[in-house]
Amino acid sequence: MNLRSGRLNGKMTGDAAEFTSSLDFDRRIFQADVRCNHAHTTMLKEQGIIPAEDADKILDALDHLETEGINSLKMDPSVEDIHMALENYITSQIGETAGFMHTGKSRNDQVATDLRLVLKEELSDILTDLLKFISNILDMAQEHTETIMVGYTHLQHAQPTTYAHHLLSYAYALKRDYGRLKDSYKRVDMCPLGSAALTTTSFPINRERTCELLGFSTILENSIDGVSSRDFMSETVSALSIMCTTLSRIFEELIIWSTYEFRLVEIGAEYSSTSSIMPQKKNPDVAEIARAKTAGVYGELVSILTILKSLPQSYNRDLQEVTPHMWNAVDNSHMLLNITADMLSTTTFNKKRGLELAEANFSTATELADLIVKEKKLPFRAAHQIVGRTVSRAIEEGLKPSDINPEYIDAVAYEFTGEYLKLDSELVKKSLDPQEVVRTRKVTGGPAPEVVKESISLLMTFIKGESM
Ligand code: ARG
Repeated sequence: MNLRSGRLNGKMTGDAAEFTSSLDFDRRIFQADVRCNHAHTTMLKEQGIIPAEDADKILDALDHLETEGINSLKMDPSVEDIHMALENYITSQIGETAGFMHTGKSRNDQVATDLRLVLKEELSDILTDLLKFISNILDMAQEHTETIMVGYTHLQHAQPTTYAHHLLSYAYALKRDYGRLKDSYKRVDMCPLGSAALTTTSFPINRERTCELLGFSTILENSIDGVSSRDFMSETVSALSIMCTTLSRIFEELIIWSTYEFRLVEIGAEYSSTSSIMPQKKNPDVAEIARAKTAGVYGELVSILTILKSLPQSYNRDLQEVTPHMWNAVDNSHMLLNITADMLSTTTFNKKRGLELAEANFSTATELADLIVKEKKLPFRAAHQIVGRTVSRAIEEGLKPSDINPEYIDAVAYEFTGEYLKLDSELVKKSLDPQEVVRTRKVTGGPAPEVVKESISLLMTFIKGESM
């Protein structure tokens, strides 16, 4: 069937046809388009809008097409898009009766419906994989509740913590990413079918019925909005971009922590490369590619927002151009998610090095200041000054935290307060020991092993609840 033979005389040039065709990325909505036509035709039949025997012929041909697959469609740019290719196929099977299928329907509501159907599936897969990733992180965390490392702020040694505590910071960020995507899903899960071109139709179609047949939760009420809106795409890609930011911070840490300077982690050989000239090299290439690919996802988001910005309401062909950006973002972020999860699971943590760094550079200084506050009832600011000066003196004299004793502290304290603190040497020793410090941080969300174990079990319950 040639759509153009009515209003238009003559064909588009080959270039123009190719330029405007969506066939290439329409492949992805083939099955959804079959389902969409099936649901619409079923509803037309039930409503008595088209003769039952004609509807049955169309439905049989659609079933046949579903088993035959996309390769039975004639996919050349002159047919414009998959909707026309599909209609042409049905016509080739049952003749002019096929024409009834498009009663009260437009490609405008059809494509919006198809895209939502496929995106729902993609999002479900991503949500499942996100839960798997969080669950893997929890398994790792369970092994490391006593594994000491130094926590950083400004990438400088800050305070001691555990690897499990750090891993849980990933888990909670990913849990919010999960929540955002699940929330986006609700707005993808709305059915625009029946909007037709933009103002519905005078045929007595039943939108609730097609919505139900296609498994959507609800209809998109306003028909102009039905064909106009692509915010379900920009919202999903925003949520995916935010998830990619979380991921990028994970692989960035793997890159930095696997350097000789840090030596905190060892990425599995299956996620590393070597150099063609430097035989000693083990490079974190996968994490580096991932770091770059994140940019691509943000780029797609900006493209999508920029195409949508200022478009007049209702259908404009520009909307077609949003689609490939969305699929790129979906595919790349899904791949990034899985590669980050797999890479992290091959990574081993160097416990000895973790403790060594936590002990080396006064990461326990805050606890020493807290000890002075608790024991001597000094204001925290005064304690902060005394400890700050103690640390800078110790560094000048080449001393380590384990060399600091009450007398050493008192030499400084006397200069500031004119008094000696006379701290208990056992307490001082404990406050400078990273393992002891971690044990005392029992506040909700802190690194004490029992608190971390509690968080792990709460997160496991969450995952179980979501997986049902
Ligand atoms: N291929 C189009 C898209 O992806 C759908 C068809 C609508 N075309 C039209 N000329 N109204 O958005």
